Amino acid sequence: MVKAKGLEGVVATTSSVSSIIDDVLTYRGYNVDDLADHSSFEEVIYLLWYKSLPTLQQLTEFRNELIESASLPSGLAAMIKNLPNEKVHPMSVLTTCISILAMYDEEADEITEEANYRKAMRLQARLSSIVAAFARIREGKEPLAPKADLSFAANFLYMLNGEVPDEVSEKAFNKALVLHADHELNASTFTARVCVATLSDMYSGVTAALGALKGPLHGGANERVMKMLAEINEVDAVEPYLQKAFENKEKIMGFGHRVYKDGDPRAKHLREMSAQLAKVAGEDKWYNMSIAVEQIVRSEKGLLPNVDFYSASVYHSLEIQHDLFTPIFAVSRVSGWIAHILEQYENNRLIRPRAEYIGLKHQTYIPINERDQSEVVSV
Ligand code: ACO
Repeated sequence: MVKAKGLEGVVATTSSVSSIIDDVLTYRGYNVDDLADHSSFEEVIYLLWYKSLPTLQQLTEFRNELIESASLPSGLAAMIKNLPNEKVHPMSVLTTCISILAMYDEEADEITEEANYRKAMRLQARLSSIVAAFARIREGKEPLAPKADLSFAANFLYMLNGEVPDEVSEKAFNKALVLHADHELNASTFTARVCVATLSDMYSGVTAALGALKGPLHGGANERVMKMLAEINEVDAVEPYLQKAFENKEKIMGFGHRVYKDGDPRAKHLREMSAQLAKVAGEDKWYNMSIAVEQIVRSEKGLLPNVDFYSASVYHSLEIQHDLFTPIFAVSRVSGWIAHILEQYENNRLIRPRAEYIGLKHQTYIPINERDQSEVVSV
């Protein structure tokens, strides 16, 4: 049996959705650098699901269908209003809401190709509506419906803030969505595939994936990056803060990667965007601190920034609340999860690895009344 802690280096499936080869990330064979520079997020979703880039007409129809699918069942919106919303994390709300959304979908348990594509559209559109609706409801505002003439990126920012974003913000957010859309067999995608490989439904697969994304070693890192930057608060404090973190053997959020050895190709786009947005906002403190953190972590630890590091200052500059950073990751990544779920159904086999047993052996069972009652076992 092959043993690999954390499944490092294990090839668990074949896939044609995305690849990381020699530190180059591609979606369906297209370099993510090209997609980030030229494509809309809707185009990327289409590419991931339908395996080729859309024509203009296909893209228009796809975009319209996404907008038409975005409204939430009234029962779900009412339920969000009743949540103890000052205390709960939006990732918990999102995970719960996706699970509930299944109850409003008559096709939830229908695992045919046609039903799966229809559900894909509803899930993609409604997940972002849930994130925006929760953010507004907890501020005492009413949720907003998307506008027919806006892009997916602009619509999300509009549904969040109630204002149509300027061109720079829309472009930056679109790019962030493109860069987060898919990433081979990352932890949440693997979780989604494990879930649906039991022939469970797409809503269950996405709900499971959300649970995995939430953790700080995965999608939860972007919120923690911002927390770290806020704690540091000024460029001069970067060095002492990091030295203390190194001494305490703490992990620096937004750095390191299981697969990339010479750096995450998405990070440079986000660094560039962070610089640009800082300039537009007239506040370069977060960008400057991020650069200082990168320099020190790189030289002292040899670690490079991953996708989460600069997305923190990008989202902060877009005036997005910090606890929405990971849900926004999901707004994008659900497109990749769905592509992988569809692929898993196409050629399914139950995913069931083995564990090497290291526990006690050959234990003799003693009936409860005959056991030594003085023994205190801590659990
Ligand atoms: N800060 C400090 N040290 C680190 C970091 C970090 N961010 N990342 C790795 N290391 C060190 C580890 O302490 C370990 O050192 P050791 O061998 O002396 O014990 C060594 O590098 C290997 O690290 P592992 O955690 O074993 O690497 P793994 O491949 O399992 O983990 C991970 C990859 C989870 C991304 C890790 O680098 C990490 O925890 N980074 C911080 C969290 C983060 O940014 N997560 C987002 C990843 S991207 C994404 O999921 C969207």
